[in-house]
Amino acid sequence: MGIVATSPRFTINHVDNRSDHLDVAWADGHQSRFDAVWLRHTCRCDACGTYESGIRPLRLTEIPDDIALSEAGLNGDGGVDVVWSSDGHSGRFDADWLRSTCNSPAERRRRRWTPTLWGREIEGRVPEADYAVCKTDDDARLTMLEALRDYGFVLLRNVPDDPEVTAEIAALAGPLRVTNYGSVYDFTYQPDALVYGDLNVKLDPHCDEPYRQAPPSITCFHFVRAASTGGASTMTDGFRLGDEMREQDPEAFKLLSTVPLTHYRRLLKTGRDFRMRAPVFSLDEEREVAGIRLNDRGAGPIDADSELVRPMLRALRKLEAMLFDEANQVVVPVGSGEALFFNNQRVLHGRTEFAPDGERYMRTCNVELDEFYSTLRMLAQQQGREGAFMNLPHGALT
Ligand SMILES: [Fe+2]
Ligand SMILES: [Zn+2]
Repeated sequence: MGIVATSPRFTINHVDNRSDHLDVAWADGHQSRFDAVWLRHTCRCDACGTYESGIRPLRLTEIPDDIALSEAGLNGDGGVDVVWSSDGHSGRFDADWLRSTCNSPAERRRRRWTPTLWGREIEGRVPEADYAVCKTDDDARLTMLEALRDYGFVLLRNVPDDPEVTAEIAALAGPLRVTNYGSVYDFTYQPDALVYGDLNVKLDPHCDEPYRQAPPSITCFHFVRAASTGGASTMTDGFRLGDEMREQDPEAFKLLSTVPLTHYRRLLKTGRDFRMRAPVFSLDEEREVAGIRLNDRGAGPIDADSELVRPMLRALRKLEAMLFDEANQVVVPVGSGEALFFNNQRVLHGRTEFAPDGERYMRTCNVELDEFYSTLRMLAQQQGREGAFMNLPHGALT
């Protein structure tokens, strides 16, 4: 699995065959229980194949529900060899694989990623990294990407102020996604712009492209030239405000996490007409916020039972008041030759008004959330960090 398994955490002291399950005692005192059918379905032998490769001749429908273990014992590699009674099939499981898939509450908690929630208190000391270092040192690159994962944003300093390198900078997080605006989009001041971001006005915190089924997730703003005056970015933690709202007004939070809001975008020039109905907050299996999508500028009429309309508008107004409150925003003055990475499915971005003198030149591109997670896992495995097994949130999908 790429992780060097020498610690007591990955050392099995003892196994007990309980027929319908296997009990495993670990050197660090932890106890695991593995179900016999679960083990059979995940058998990783050459004949059964693996789920990671997708090359797996074994079908769950071929496994009887009453299958039992006839034998189980430690093998010479520190893993476990088992034999199932019904078909006499034998399987082998590595210790590190078993530990990283153990379903005990303690191990499931350990696999569960938790965000670092933040507010104004981090202004002036936001997570940051150095491009030149991250480019050549995978350990530093992983640390930068872990900050992006945990905070939802990271400021990258010391990037070239050369528009040719935007894609290369963003690719630190993974392969680029093609959006409405291509894979790299130029933001420059245009007084008659069709894209609101191309004007010089202040932008309230918002998510980009919430009208797409999967909005862009990891976004990189590469500042080739910062504005001569103004134009500072603002970052707002949608996950923290979701938690706060749930505490202060559970009913409003419930509406915003269950009743869909429709976001629209019509692009007449290219003949496209997007709309996506989804709740503002997307929740995971433990009802924690996994993603947010909201942009008041593109939120259409509430399309719900009439008795829900006014409560929905009230809930939305309340959330927007929190988002637009400067006390909840972190101002990040990104200079020329710097880049700001953020997760658009967690952090709402905005900016202050800037001087309309044509100085500001910002380029932006996106990396899909799953590509970003894939980069994190590959690097974590290379660097021998256990983060490779962490369950990460699905984002703003439904
Ligand atoms: Fe935006
Ligand atoms: Zn097998």
